[in-house]
Amino acid sequence: MIFRDYRIEAAFSEYHIVDFGDMHWGALASDESDIKERVKEIAEGDNYWWIGMGDYLDAINYSDKRFDPNTLPERYRICDLDDLVLLQAHEFCDIFDPIAHKCIGLHSGNHEFTIQRLHQVNIHHEIIRRLNRYMREQKLEEDLQVITLGEMAFINISIPNLKKKFTIWSAHGTGRASSPETALRKLKNYKRQFEADIYQIGHLHYCVGDEEISLAYGMKEVKKIFLVTGSFLKSYIEGPATYAERRIYSPIPLSAMEIIVDGEGLKFRKF
Ligand SMILES: [Fe+2]
Repeated sequence: MIFRDYRIEAAFSEYHIVDFGDMHWGALASDESDIKERVKEIAEGDNYWWIGMGDYLDAINYSDKRFDPNTLPERYRICDLDDLVLLQAHEFCDIFDPIAHKCIGLHSGNHEFTIQRLHQVNIHHEIIRRLNRYMREQKLEEDLQVITLGEMAFINISIPNLKKKFTIWSAHGTGRASSPETALRKLKNYKRQFEADIYQIGHLHYCVGDEEISLAYGMKEVKKIFLVTGSFLKSYIEGPATYAERRIYSPIPLSAMEIIVDGEGLKFRKF
């Protein structure tokens, strides 16, 4: 469990925090142009920050039983297979370097963890090292550092300008869900275990959110937001069968989630 306190000092009337994960960079079915567009949007939005939800890389190399050479982009050469995951990590960082200084933290995904477990290469830390090196080289916000959010984190965000403080319970996530509704139900079960204003998980690849409002003493409304944070891995592509196609999973629209904080409080929408 990681505890992260993050204070946003900049003064805006509205703040955006994008939950960005499950890109599966390096898979043929990863929508790389869409990912680059979203990165550009975060880079150009002065009032945008982001949380990495894990599974940044597809990270499936040739000794993995899920490996299928048909599902790799044509740019990889046969000799690249020797160092595929590291190559994917560096390609990923080339895209994400410009928004490293806006990163609240990065969860580790199961695709990164598999590489650590089977090959003793902590590719998650390699990504963090690379993003921090870029910030150092660019002399970007010297007091900022990209940190790991591990598998699970409580993130306390404070925005003095709006006099707002809130807690996000955040995890890469685990297990399966056969529909957006079951994904949301699974997430909502975690409110019995953890106390927060926002609950969020990736991994299930659906992009769905909900909020619950209860009434407290003095008619004070207490809001809880639940976000399953989406993916950028297409279930189906023209040509080779993807992992999802072999299992006849549902096609899923690609998206991230966005938390919006303004004077009134917390909201969410698809990003
Ligand atoms: Fe994933």
